[in-house]
Amino acid sequence: MHFDAIGRVPGDPILSLMEAYAQDPNPRKFDLGVGVYKDAQGLTPIPHSVKLAEARLMEQQTTKIYIGGHGEPAFGKVINELVLGADSPLIRDKRAGASQTPGGTGALRLSADFIAQCLPGRGVWLSDPTWPIHESIFAKAGVKVSHYPYVGRDNRLDIEGMLTALAAAPKGDVVLLHACCHNPTGFDPSHDDWRRILDVVRKRELLPLIDFAYQGFGDGLEQDAWSTRLFAAELPEVLITSSCSKNFGLYRDRTGALIVCAKTADKLIDIRSQLANIARNLWSTPPDHGAAVVATILGDPELKNLWVDEVETMRLRIAQLRSGLVEALEPHGLRERFAHIGVQRGMFSYTGLSPEQVKQLRDQHSVYMVGTGRANVAGIDATRLDLLAEAIADVCK
Ligand SMILES: Cc1ncc(COP(=O)(O)O)c(C=O)c1O
Repeated sequence: MHFDAIGRVPGDPILSLMEAYAQDPNPRKFDLGVGVYKDAQGLTPIPHSVKLAEARLMEQQTTKIYIGGHGEPAFGKVINELVLGADSPLIRDKRAGASQTPGGTGALRLSADFIAQCLPGRGVWLSDPTWPIHESIFAKAGVKVSHYPYVGRDNRLDIEGMLTALAAAPKGDVVLLHACCHNPTGFDPSHDDWRRILDVVRKRELLPLIDFAYQGFGDGLEQDAWSTRLFAAELPEVLITSSCSKNFGLYRDRTGALIVCAKTADKLIDIRSQLANIARNLWSTPPDHGAAVVATILGDPELKNLWVDEVETMRLRIAQLRSGLVEALEPHGLRERFAHIGVQRGMFSYTGLSPEQVKQLRDQHSVYMVGTGRANVAGIDATRLDLLAEAIADVCK
């Protein structure tokens, strides 16, 4: 029959980790695996600002007719401003345009197809390690994937290795950079490092593709945009993928954007015509609901203030869990060894634990994290930091 020769591919390892966690009867278990924000109750709630915007939309929306290929202009405007800054000269000069996409993943896929079709022969450089979907999205679009060192065996940011690799990249290649809160490591370049990266990108005439999936989860909504805005201000052409999944809690509503910064307003129109054409063959027109929620929130000063506070609450919880865990490890003589957890940013941490230690944590202490030693810090229960520290100390003996 037609399907006889089709085999099975392995599922996402994080999903099987989630299943194992769900089936573990130990009431003292920890879920540090799946990459979603969790509050003190271990829940991923809908922000109040989102609920209020949804109520408003329910009342006011009169049609479900298709939106345009680039999505709702009101969303494009607010997401441009959120990412580039409301007073960005790029926006003023009409050199930056946002295309609404199904999540950050959709924005990445649109970028990958754009590179494959409109910039043929260009390869993409990814950090080693990076979010695994980066690897497959570009490969599936037919873009050659190469890697630059990022975090090595010593579990430190290898900025020199990164710069050396990029300095040898073929001119014109694309370099994917994580704007902040690097997934999976949590290590971000310093401002000085970013300036050095910018120098190499400029010298090698690389095209930066900045993946901005965690705005507001690192040092703050504006602070986290620093590197993206630096590149957008200093270079004539930049691609930015923005996700509203985490900071708006809109995960399943698939909300994101591909922002293109072009040399001139006229060139931007050319590029956007290509993007609309590519998107037409991927998802036709983007989903509306999440983007309408974001446009409602950011377009209303009161809702926006509420949302800004809610993002700050999430950010502070993560920051406190990071410093809390380092402190809880102190009595075990492990403060120094795990000090990097306090330095890293965003939800994820490359803990430096080996795959064997990760397995031991899971089997003996019901602490679930990804085999590479990546922990989602937001999954920690703050009232049980000591218990987690004890478990880590036990596998580090
Ligand atoms: C680095 C990175 N980029 C992009 C995304 C895309 O997120 P989404 O498609 O859910 O908006 C994620 C989500 O985990 C991510 O970690």
